Amino acid sequence: MVRDQAESLRLRVKKMQHETETKAIAVLSGKGGVGKSNVSLNFSLALRQRGKNVLLFDMDIGMGNIDILLGQTSSHTIIDIFRPNVTIHDIIKTGPENLSFIAGGTGLTDIFHMDEQKVQYFIEQLQLVSEQYDYIIFDMGAGMSEDRLQLLKAVDDIFIVTTPEPTALTDAYATMKYIHLADHQLPIYVLVNRARSDKEGIETLQRLKQVAKRFLGKELHALGYVPEDRTVSNAVIRQTPFLLFDPSAKASKAVIQMTERYLANEEHKEQMKRPFHFFAKLRQYFLER
Ligand SMILES: Nc1ncnc2c1ncn2[C@@H]1O[C@H](COP(=O)(O)OP(=O)(O)OP(=O)(O)O)[C@@H](O)[C@H]1O
Ligand SMILES: [Mg+2]
Repeated sequence: MVRDQAESLRLRVKKMQHETETKAIAVLSGKGGVGKSNVSLNFSLALRQRGKNVLLFDMDIGMGNIDILLGQTSSHTIIDIFRPNVTIHDIIKTGPENLSFIAGGTGLTDIFHMDEQKVQYFIEQLQLVSEQYDYIIFDMGAGMSEDRLQLLKAVDDIFIVTTPEPTALTDAYATMKYIHLADHQLPIYVLVNRARSDKEGIETLQRLKQVAKRFLGKELHALGYVPEDRTVSNAVIRQTPFLLFDPSAKASKAVIQMTERYLANEEHKEQMKRPFHFFAKLRQYFLER
């Protein structure tokens, strides 16, 4: 029985490696409030504008705010997937630029505290739709746990968002260290948000790169920096993503540039065609725990 299960898992893993080219990206930070949700959302929209199919998944379950940033409070969140007659298709909403998103909702339920059967069902449902997408982007919310780490270990790329403040930087470093120790191979990208000058943005990125190299032996990818820009908070108040609110704002231009850079790096990596392990890894962990 156990061997059968292992065998069927192996077959499924094999199948997935050949059939999908979806990429999963997790956006996280150490410190809260540094701009993860705004970055995830506007980066997702910039990818849409480049013709990529994107599913943005608000993993800040219970405290989600992607739907609020979009001004589209969703009646369904991922938790509703366990209600009868609700499928993943009911939960995926369409935002501007035809962006698909799953709201995090409000409440106290945490997807990571569900029993095994539910997790299994959740993974299956997500996998059902994943092939439609080029990118699945997880806005991870703040905080870390063993289960969260497992999701992070399953993704293809990690984006760490920080501001130039020492408190945020210290937490960003602690987060990347935690992830690096769990998986040395995982590509880590860093993004500095709310830079008050080009100099501050560039220097903060350089410093993070140096520290990671020196103390962890880790080569970070610098995704870039987003300036401190009043457009961001104005757009939040208007519940419109800043990229759409004012495409010519400094923050918008920075996100577009960052997206171009990421895709250029991606295309380069395409030559190596990394298989999509995400669901296999998630399933393996949750079945074995
Ligand atoms: N580049 C920026 N310029 C100016 N203000 C910004 C910028 N980025 C973020 N902010 C401000 O910071 C606030 C918090 O951003 P956001 O909600 O994206 O952070 P978060 O990291 O997702 O927070 P949480 O940890 O609570 O999930 C925004 O509402 C906005 O007012
Ligand atoms: Mg957030």
